[in-house]
Amino acid sequence: MKKARLYSGMQPSADSLQIGNYIGALMQWRDLQETYDAFFSVVDLHALTQPNDPAELREKTRRTAAQYIAAGIEPAKSTLYVQSHVPAHAELAWILSTITGFGEAGRMTQFKDKSQRYGSDATSVGLFTYPVLMAADILLYQTDIVPVGDDQKQHVELTRDLAERFNGRYGEVFRVPMPVIQQDTARIFDLQNPLAKMSKSAESEAGVLWLLDDPAVTAKKIMRAVTDSEGAVRYDRENKPGVSNLLVVYAALTGRQIASIEDEYVGRGYGDFKKGLAEVVVAEFEPVRARAMELLSDPAELDRVLAANAARAAEVAGATLSKVYDSVGL
Ligand code: ADP
Ligand code: NA
Repeated sequence: MKKARLYSGMQPSADSLQIGNYIGALMQWRDLQETYDAFFSVVDLHALTQPNDPAELREKTRRTAAQYIAAGIEPAKSTLYVQSHVPAHAELAWILSTITGFGEAGRMTQFKDKSQRYGSDATSVGLFTYPVLMAADILLYQTDIVPVGDDQKQHVELTRDLAERFNGRYGEVFRVPMPVIQQDTARIFDLQNPLAKMSKSAESEAGVLWLLDDPAVTAKKIMRAVTDSEGAVRYDRENKPGVSNLLVVYAALTGRQIASIEDEYVGRGYGDFKKGLAEVVVAEFEPVRARAMELLSDPAELDRVLAANAARAAEVAGATLSKVYDSVGL
């Protein structure tokens, strides 16, 4: 039987991915690639909506791809490619933008938040049409499911609306995708500010655990993570957000139940618990970091793998795009 299609991606917005990207996306992608015909892209066109140094952007893109592979996304099993290597993304985005309402795009909460923060002069039209490009990413591959964080749910809803609108207006071209919203328990918060989501683009790096950090730095950040004065290793999101966040990381990386970890640390202090967690995180990250460094030491080979995967992506995307062109009269 033909496997269902899956699409997901991340922006190359930092030199390293952070542990939230690993737990919330990469670990799940690694499992999903066994059951789905999966397309994973590094969305560098999306990254252009932030200010970037060109050479740095190119390097971040390569490093992000290397980390996908190092974390277990297999380029011979999944299609792992760089968005800008497949021109159909930009082409379909233009066509979809012509059926997207100005007001509809203006209602996207991520745009409202970001444009408010940047001010109108620093807000580009690209930031406004970002969700339309994301719709093109997804629809080009006749995607069945899109695993995303809940902050992207509205964008996948827009994608579904655009697919249905296009199909209604021009004939059945697109499969209408389903979002698969990431479990709340897989959400990781900043170690220094456990009420804010950990992010690659956090203002301060003190609370961010980078996949490619030196093990000593990782351990130090964990030892310094914000907790509380109770001293008990106990899950309570509301009253103990710091400790709860550390427990979630521990459980996600070991596959253990939170209750069993709480039991292990009954009567022991946060120092012991943090030391235990640091060992878990370092043991998980070390092979990933080593593999990523090995891949990055041979950029020509990495580029060859990415080019071969982009060619495969372009075949699928090109078939959809040519149906689209036919349907709209181009
Ligand atoms: P970032 O905020 O680090 O730039 P992105 O918005 O690029 O992350 O998200 C890339 C992927 O990583 C998405 O699938 C998202 O759901 C996941 N992700 C990002 N941050 C976290 C987090 N703190 N906890 C869990 N998953 C996360
Ligand atoms: Na592949």
